Amino acid sequence: MRTPVIAGNWKLFKTIGEATSLVSELKPLVAGATGVEIVVAPVFTALSRVADIAAGSNVQVAAQDCFWKEEGAYTGEVAPKLLKDAGCSHVIIGHSERRQFFGETDQTVNNKAKAALDAGLTAIVCVGETLAEREAGVTFAVIGKQVKEGLAGLSVDNLARVIVAYEPVWAIGTGKTASDEQAQEVHASIRALIGELFGTSAAAELRILYGGSVKPDNVKGLMTQADIDGALVGGASLVAESFAAIVNYGA
Ligand code: PGA
Repeated sequence: MRTPVIAGNWKLFKTIGEATSLVSELKPLVAGATGVEIVVAPVFTALSRVADIAAGSNVQVAAQDCFWKEEGAYTGEVAPKLLKDAGCSHVIIGHSERRQFFGETDQTVNNKAKAALDAGLTAIVCVGETLAEREAGVTFAVIGKQVKEGLAGLSVDNLARVIVAYEPVWAIGTGKTASDEQAQEVHASIRALIGELFGTSAAAELRILYGGSVKPDNVKGLMTQADIDGALVGGASLVAESFAAIVNYGA
């Protein structure tokens, strides 16, 4: 009953020309994909051109971050409503690279999630533990705090436009994916917590994506897990064929 989501996070890669080529190549390769939502997240400068090319197709466009104010003297920031204006339907919030390199906290994630939802965007809220945290046995505590504080104050209605992405930091860009079982147990814990916070039906409807070295050859195993509802894909989303193979995992 939960429609899977396959999202490509292009990070700080690709010029406008390269990004428009990639989405143009991708469209026909995924045109036949049904029962799956497809999202790509280019850099800010390429958003509107990619969105123009994606318009009318089954490919939706996300930004990789946003600010929480609508406008004002905030040099360098981009407001959620401007992302909508550029053609985005989604925005990634709280990616571990933002937490690690740009000082994002659960509080800023929460501010951004609320602002994104207010602007009518779908928020892809990322959580994940570091290797040290996993080895210290605090994975569930870390993820629980990130979920609770990141989604604090949202309504059950809001939650319908939230997607959670579980991305263990040690699996991002390392080629070291979590095992299907390791991912599943964290996804199940997130869903249980959402049940406590927002009720069981909201929890049953929430899409929880796995991210961290998802490739065409490991996506199927992950997607067979009961609580894994899609993937947030970095490296393998930069080439149309490999991203399409992940989108078409069930074909
Ligand atoms: P990766 O990145 O697929 O290259 O590991 C995932 C992500 O950071 O979203």
